[in-house]
Amino acid sequence: IVDVKGGPDEGLDRVGLMIVVAGWVRTLRAQSSVTFIEVNDGSCLSNMQCVMTSDAEGYDQVKSGLITTGASIWIQGNVVPSQGSKQKVELKVNKIVLVGKSDPSYPIQKKRVSREFLRTKAHLRPRTNTFGAVARVRNALAYATHKFFQENGFIWISSPIITASDCEGAGEQFCVTTLIPSSREAVESPVDAIPKTKDGLIDWSQDFFEKPAFLTVSGQLNAETYATALSDVYTFGPTFRAENSNTSRHLAEFWMIEPELAFADLKDDMACATAYLQYVVRYILDNCKEDMDFFNTWIEKGIIDRLSTVAERDFVQLSYTDAIELLIKAKKKFEFLVKWGCDLQSEHERYLTEEAFGGCPVIVSDYPKEIKAFYMRQNDDGRTVAAMDMLVPRIGELIGGSQREERLEYLEGRLDELKLNRDTYWWYLDLRHYGSVPHAGFGLGFERLVQFATGVENIRDAIPFPRTPGSAEF
Ligand code: 4AD
Ligand code: MG
Repeated sequence: IVDVKGGPDEGLDRVGLMIVVAGWVRTLRAQSSVTFIEVNDGSCLSNMQCVMTSDAEGYDQVKSGLITTGASIWIQGNVVPSQGSKQKVELKVNKIVLVGKSDPSYPIQKKRVSREFLRTKAHLRPRTNTFGAVARVRNALAYATHKFFQENGFIWISSPIITASDCEGAGEQFCVTTLIPSSREAVESPVDAIPKTKDGLIDWSQDFFEKPAFLTVSGQLNAETYATALSDVYTFGPTFRAENSNTSRHLAEFWMIEPELAFADLKDDMACATAYLQYVVRYILDNCKEDMDFFNTWIEKGIIDRLSTVAERDFVQLSYTDAIELLIKAKKKFEFLVKWGCDLQSEHERYLTEEAFGGCPVIVSDYPKEIKAFYMRQNDDGRTVAAMDMLVPRIGELIGGSQREERLEYLEGRLDELKLNRDTYWWYLDLRHYGSVPHAGFGLGFERLVQFATGVENIRDAIPFPRTPGSAEF
């Protein structure tokens, strides 16, 4: 459909062509002498209006009511100018084939259904306008991500999903264990086949991994090893957080983009994050016009203007200390008290970007070391680290990054202070033994980017199959 309707003249340049459309019926309207079928194949938001009279081959299936909303069909016809006002061209059907009929219980009928309801139908929701558009824009953002980094000389690295280390040191990890193969068939529940000690704990000595293994929370430490060999690199893969957060911006499984820049400091890191965000935003505005117009009308009024401004203007930069001062002076009652040393909550982040700076992305830097991870480079003041978070309207934190501690003695000192085991990080420390360099990087939560770019309010609608506490059905 996009091949025809996405053309320079919305299909008028294709008039006279005979084409085939294979897709799913959105609506069917039978009048006395003609039947209109709106069909969609997911290639774009637009449906193809197919007009059929009784001389079309296969018309008997339409007449007998076999073809209904949700059915899959194959249609051959001629592109003709449309009489209707909604589209410039339509299809005059020569032949229709019912590929798979749809039971009348099909839950996605024409009336608008809520996004909450659609979450319970994650297997069918991509057939709606909203989820089709989100999937296409998500795809475009992924493509633009690779395009941006590849064009700038970054090398894509696959970081492992199973790991023994906890990059963020927050203990929010899912544990990986194996079922004992010999007993696999005998047990009723897979949980029973996990090797356990007498006390009911996982018996790692019996386990395939033999040591505790976890799902990664971040590919950063692995990316650092490649950055200190290949210079600029990036990862783009799934990451996992076992935090029991039920919010509109947290998932237990989300995708993260993590560039790592060698011979670079925090300023370079911020510049890269800004250039990256502006590039991908510009990319979807230029390449996903139909879907962006749809979001602008139905999901978030004004999103196109908002994103156009983001793509062009300079972002605000301020230190954590200045941000705290600004929040304290704000004539606003926050739920969480603000004082130097506190972690910024979503309400503070949103105040900064939405109210204090009128919707402009804000980069806050130099946070207190106590609230940040062990690997961040300590500043000369001894109490802050070279960290930066990028905050954007409606989301709050979109990006978290830092310059890394490249000095061995500082890094070891920090691990000790935080009572983290040096042995676990021996390979990470090795990077500081052998040819250490100043380097920096950041992580961007891909679903938060999708939220930001499409206007969908809940992060559960920014990923095909959301994983949140208690939900892994589909
Ligand atoms: O700030 P975070 O925890 O930083 C890191 O993981 C670093 N290792 C990144 C780096 O420097 N390479 O996470 C980075 C970003 C956040 O800014 C947020 O956008 C996203 O990941 N994020 C989540 N997105 C969805 N659900 C969650 N539970 C998320 N936790 C973090
Ligand atoms: Mg963070």
